[in-house]
Amino acid sequence: MMKKGNLYYPAEEAKKKAWVKDKKIYSDALKDPVKFWEKLAKELFWFSPWKKGFEHKPPHFKWFLGGKTNITSNIFENNLAGWEKIKQKTALIWVPEPNNEKTRKVTYDALFKEVQKCANYLKKLGVKKGDRVGIYLPIIPEIVVAMLALARIGAVHCVVFSAFSPDALRIRLQDTGAKVLITADNYYRKGKIIDLEAQAREGVKQTKVKKVILIKRGRNNPWQKEKDFCPPRSMDSEDLQFILYTSGSTGKPKGCMHVCGGYLVQAYWTGKWIFDFHPQDIFWCTSDPGWITGHTYAIYSPLLNGIATLIYEGALDWPEPNKWAKIIDKHKVTIFYTAPTAIRMFKRYGGDVLSDNKFNYLRILGSVGEPIDESSWIWYFEKVGRKKCPILDTWWQTETGGILISSLPGLGPFRPAFTGLPFPGIKVGILDEKGLPALREGNLVILAPFAPGLLRGIYKDEERYMKTYWSQYPKGTYFTSDAALWGKDGLVRILGRVDDVIKVAGHRLATGELEEAVNSHPDITECAVIGIPDEIKGELPFVFAIYSGKRVKEEIEKEIIDLVRKKIGPIASPQKVFLVGDLPKTRSGKIMRRILKDIWLGKKLGDLSTLANPGSVNKLEDAIGNFKKSL
Ligand code: WTA
Repeated sequence: MMKKGNLYYPAEEAKKKAWVKDKKIYSDALKDPVKFWEKLAKELFWFSPWKKGFEHKPPHFKWFLGGKTNITSNIFENNLAGWEKIKQKTALIWVPEPNNEKTRKVTYDALFKEVQKCANYLKKLGVKKGDRVGIYLPIIPEIVVAMLALARIGAVHCVVFSAFSPDALRIRLQDTGAKVLITADNYYRKGKIIDLEAQAREGVKQTKVKKVILIKRGRNNPWQKEKDFCPPRSMDSEDLQFILYTSGSTGKPKGCMHVCGGYLVQAYWTGKWIFDFHPQDIFWCTSDPGWITGHTYAIYSPLLNGIATLIYEGALDWPEPNKWAKIIDKHKVTIFYTAPTAIRMFKRYGGDVLSDNKFNYLRILGSVGEPIDESSWIWYFEKVGRKKCPILDTWWQTETGGILISSLPGLGPFRPAFTGLPFPGIKVGILDEKGLPALREGNLVILAPFAPGLLRGIYKDEERYMKTYWSQYPKGTYFTSDAALWGKDGLVRILGRVDDVIKVAGHRLATGELEEAVNSHPDITECAVIGIPDEIKGELPFVFAIYSGKRVKEEIEKEIIDLVRKKIGPIASPQKVFLVGDLPKTRSGKIMRRILKDIWLGKKLGDLSTLANPGSVNKLEDAIGNFKKSL
């Protein structure tokens, strides 16, 4: 990499290899983004072509209207890389957590057969096109098989992160109306065996699920005896490909709807150009498939590109702090994609743990999920990338289906803490409250024609779709809920969410979701949850709950923590519960969460006279002050 001022540029060698070398691509694409995407889409496999590239009837829009395709045909028999060429190549490398268990490598051909067997099995159970099917699986090869099998027959997968609690699973299953759930008996996490089956059995209560398909980890799959041929279902571009739930401003998660045509096109091309996938690459995206990053970049994008994708069952630092680094070396990973929270954790362990690691094969590094600070960026660049690998800081969301902002590896430029340039053909804006271009920082928006992979709706909640994304600005401007600014060089810097979404170790949670869980405690009627900055995890949830009863406080605090774990999962565990007599409120009764955060951060509080109960503030300052002293 070459450094000029604050900016880094790719070395000549990397440039030569890269798919995109000429920056004219940006101006060309923006001249007519629809034409640009149509040209890219044409390279993929379609049963029949579309009649119209793009249609916009705000807030709704469609891409590739009338086109017919199937994403699994594009992964297998009609892969752009040539089926005969990739058939015997490794598609999937599964690394189990226990060191004494063997890695499993699955070729494209073997994976295809498994997918078709599983598809036939699902068909026999009566699963049809458009049916929603729940998947509650850990990181085992079967999660890939199950997702692709459902896509093969046109059913809609609804993956629920395996570390979510039974209650969280239930809410999602109820919303989708799924009749079938695919789950597993157990999996390993930090040396412990997690009984997923028990959680699943609990989670399907009070849902429409009639059939639970149980996969036994490491043993024969239920579909073993099925035929290994199943033709692909021809899907309309705008048919549902999958639903994935994500946290929004309120308690209830939103089911983001992604469709077959647009998602396929974006998943393929963003992977190819951003990660510069070449036939020999071994790509490791550390995200769990239960999140969007896992959907698109652990599974769909690398497989569409005909390369090997590595998935690892366990924690990145277990059983040894450099487990992740050992996996990179052992499996000759060429492209590594992870989250800043992981990078900060690696950094905390110190460079020493890396002295045994060579990283000889690495050529590209990626980051996703939250802003990466300058010092972690530099550590990642120097210690892992050995100053050779570009750092692709990729901005996107569950809603966008694929990456929308990231500089390209053959062009750059890269700048610590800046995510980069919008992908070719993507028009973004940074607007002030009035909708005018912001002078410095503002809200990040996406302008028409958006992106082929952008969500088409929130499942069964049109009103919320309208309200969340399309009502802040004049019709037809997609509101991302992120604040951002432009650098002088045209690079975008993401500043963080402007709503009540927090990122805890890269996991997207809504403070409203936690508040709902806390308020379900019989002795609590009012609370506020805020995200407090944390050096490793980015943010940690802190609970402030009003309690004036007589029970021992420690007991109630523990009950609250247990409730959050039960309703959402251990990832949402509050770091601390403050039981307080009162919370600062406006005269109309709204809790001022901002004040809580400012007290924590030691900021000047300004004018408190508009509060209904300014007296509440002093007591909070004391409680927070005492707690901080005890740390
Ligand atoms: C944040 C994850 C800064 C952002 C793919 C966004 C980022 C939210 C970045 C979506 C990045 C994602 N830099 N912030 N490179 N990537 N974000 O739905 O706030 O889990 O709105 O999707 O993560 O989180 P989600």
